[in-house]
Amino acid sequence: MNSTESHLRMARDELIAAMDASTADITGIRPPDEDRVADMADLLARLADVRGRPAMYASIGSGRGRGALVELADGSVKWDMITGIGVNGFGHGDLELAGVAATAAVQDIVMQGNLHCNIEAIKFAETLRAAARRGGADMAHCYPACSGGRVNEIALKVCMQARNGAPRVIAFEKNFIGRTVALSHIGDSPGHREGIPKAIQTDYLPYWDPADPDGSSADALAALTAIIAEHPNRHACFVMELVQGEGGFTAAPREFFAPLLELARSHDIPVWFDEIQTFGRTDRMFRFEGLDLGGYADIVTVGKMTQGCGALWRDAFNPRLGLLSGTFLGSTAAMAVGTSVIDRLTGGDWYGPDGHNARLFAAFAARCEAMVAAHGDCFPEVVGPRGVLRPWGGTGGMMRLTPFGGQKDAIVELVHRFFKGGVLSFFCGHGPFHIRFLPPIGVLTLEQFDEVMDIVEAAIIAHGKES
Ligand SMILES: Cc1ncc(COP(=O)(O)O)c(C=O)c1O
Repeated sequence: MNSTESHLRMARDELIAAMDASTADITGIRPPDEDRVADMADLLARLADVRGRPAMYASIGSGRGRGALVELADGSVKWDMITGIGVNGFGHGDLELAGVAATAAVQDIVMQGNLHCNIEAIKFAETLRAAARRGGADMAHCYPACSGGRVNEIALKVCMQARNGAPRVIAFEKNFIGRTVALSHIGDSPGHREGIPKAIQTDYLPYWDPADPDGSSADALAALTAIIAEHPNRHACFVMELVQGEGGFTAAPREFFAPLLELARSHDIPVWFDEIQTFGRTDRMFRFEGLDLGGYADIVTVGKMTQGCGALWRDAFNPRLGLLSGTFLGSTAAMAVGTSVIDRLTGGDWYGPDGHNARLFAAFAARCEAMVAAHGDCFPEVVGPRGVLRPWGGTGGMMRLTPFGGQKDAIVELVHRFFKGGVLSFFCGHGPFHIRFLPPIGVLTLEQFDEVMDIVEAAIIAHGKES
């Protein structure tokens, strides 16, 4: 190590030590600090003004946090069970990742691009590709970009070119894929494309429904057969979330996907797994790995927990020169941290039937079962489009809870009650609606999770009494 390197390393270690010391007081939830309530109000007003619409709730961070705990601008400390919709898998103020980011931050460039990059962009793409290959997907290349929507646009173009301009897409009902003009016509939420002219023709098939596994599987296969027959050779791809996120945290099994993927493959329709929300959080690093579906993957997209995002494809899909470029691949810090996140997930005890993610989910399931048994009045039947659903579900670090029959008003109010009680969460689903948790799997302990669930349970009981 030369003297500059050792100097930088010492400076980094000092920074991290200072960061560690400065958050040592964050040991549990606490209410807002009276002196700082006005600061939060001011920030919320500024946010609403500059963005043109108000925040859903007062979740503006102070910049300090420790593990699963985040301090907000009013000085309150809360359990972060949504982590920026799954982005901060190692929670807040992680010292190792901060050290990686600090080292990256003193390099010559903040942003790396298509025309000129440093080693971080190469390492990030290589690390993601190696992980996908280990998971069983024969990915030849990886193109990094700054958002899930952007890598999904890249993937869509790659598929279209490989299929000689085929204009249609096959996707599942209730899927979410991003918010560009094209993607908002693939995602199945009419509100996300209100006033936006149709850019893509999407053919939808039903997703697996736990209330009717056989019926929904048979209907999906019949729908896919009909779609392919109606538009032969017109599909650029069949894109899917292997656990639907926005759609309601539904974790479909291998038996549902395999016949659909076989059928798509027999018609040369490229298969694209959108792992932007699932990456890192389920029973394996990739959900396709856990379902042993990697062999079907032609395209994979990844984001959120990886900080940078990536589109990966098989060799045969490598696009011709000119299709892909862009000013930014990502920031030096984000790609260095993303590489470190993947390395950490590769080495640890996260996956498998007894891994940390499975243990977290088992703890969640046990708490939910007990809660439903003890407070049945708060858990009336959840009736979905195909029948009655269990009032909780998901897999690994993707958890849904459905009290009060999944009525929208109750779910939205509960999310606010949790917030007041000290837990950040969000909702998902299209009716029934669900509370969704994307906890920081990399740092949340079972003991901490129990504290979180105490707050959740108390808020549900209080809502039941007051409504
Ligand atoms: C499955 C899936 N695909 C794509 C996206 C879009 O990612 P981004 O918001 O980074 O553009 C998301 C984001 O929630 C997602 O969950």
